[in-house]
Amino acid sequence: MSPQRVLLLGATGETGGSILEGLLEDTDSFIVEVLVRPSSADKPQVQKLVERGVKIRVVDIEGSAEAVVENLAGIDVLISAIDAMGQLAQLGLATAAKKAGIKRFVPCAFTTVAPPGGVMGLRDSKEEVYQHIRRLYLPYTIIDVGYWHQISFPTLPSGRVDYAAFATPSVDIHAGGTAPTMLTDLRDIGPFVARIIKDPRTLNQSVVTYSDVLSENDIFKLLEEMSGETIQPKHVSADEIIAARVRAAAKVKAEPANRMAHMMTFITDYQYSKYVRGDNTPTYAAYLGYLDARELYPDFRPRSFKEYVGELLEGKAVKPYQFKNWG
Ligand SMILES: NC(=O)c1ccc[n+]([C@@H]2O[C@H](COP(=O)([O-])OP(=O)(O)OC[C@H]3O[C@@H](n4cnc5c(N)ncnc54)[C@H](OP(=O)(O)O)[C@@H]3O)[C@@H](O)[C@H]2O)c1
Repeated sequence: MSPQRVLLLGATGETGGSILEGLLEDTDSFIVEVLVRPSSADKPQVQKLVERGVKIRVVDIEGSAEAVVENLAGIDVLISAIDAMGQLAQLGLATAAKKAGIKRFVPCAFTTVAPPGGVMGLRDSKEEVYQHIRRLYLPYTIIDVGYWHQISFPTLPSGRVDYAAFATPSVDIHAGGTAPTMLTDLRDIGPFVARIIKDPRTLNQSVVTYSDVLSENDIFKLLEEMSGETIQPKHVSADEIIAARVRAAAKVKAEPANRMAHMMTFITDYQYSKYVRGDNTPTYAAYLGYLDARELYPDFRPRSFKEYVGELLEGKAVKPYQFKNWG
């Protein structure tokens, strides 16, 4: 079979960067090109992609609709790994994808499993895009991944894992810490996506990936056992999470342009969904109609959370978002 021509939006980001590497590993199956917005065309990260021989298509997905359609010419699969705040910019992209005859659109999911409709605002903005895709009758695949290993570990009293931590200290245990939750190593999103987008079984389906299903109590115990340190956790009750979520939503309503306020709604919604409701599990994913990537691709062994912690303790983990401008 001739290779599929894939256009990836978000290759300079965390999720998109993983997807890029996963696709570039399989040159028999994919010819990979990258969609870049005009304001980022001269970024060093984009220049590095050019140096690696990746073809770049520069277009503003919120600009002229014709220009977007033109820039999708010849593409079989379009993948979006746009950041959390940018979800609705995909509405016009989906319309253009339909006009351009894209054979499979992978909109930006890549999050935890949660139901639509008021549990997670982020999920609901993604859902708006999915509903638009279905109205267009555009072929699609939705891929969710649980929570990344890279943002799922507590910090240690010695400070030895602070170098890779998104926030320090990070010792909160939510709602008793008993809810199991699916985890995927950020680096394994790409290899999973590569398998999923060449698989006819996943067309017009949702798929979930994970390496482990662990509670926060499991994770803290593992870190303590592997490090020999004792973590003093800070317990955050379900009621406190719910109250923080209400406060965060009120702040966004009062200050819609405040990006940090939006970040707080993302964080508190994740906590509510994962730890209070307990949504992010394989059983609930199956109930919502997801296919299980572990069952589809038994040949692929994702990196376990324990392996990741081993790397973390050896000082070999990489902190996400090192080049991100949060402004
Ligand atoms: N499962 C988890 O644990 C987890 C954790 C974090 C995020 N996520 C999900 O993953 C998704 C991707 O987030 P991320 O944090 O990986 O993203 P990120 O690192 O912030 O990167 C976003 C990418 O999108 C590009 N982009 C943004 N707006 C664009 C536009 N208008 N046109 C073209 N490119 C544009 C950025 O390019 P520039 O170089 O131009 O900025 C960048 O490459 C999010 O939707 C979020 O829901 C999941």
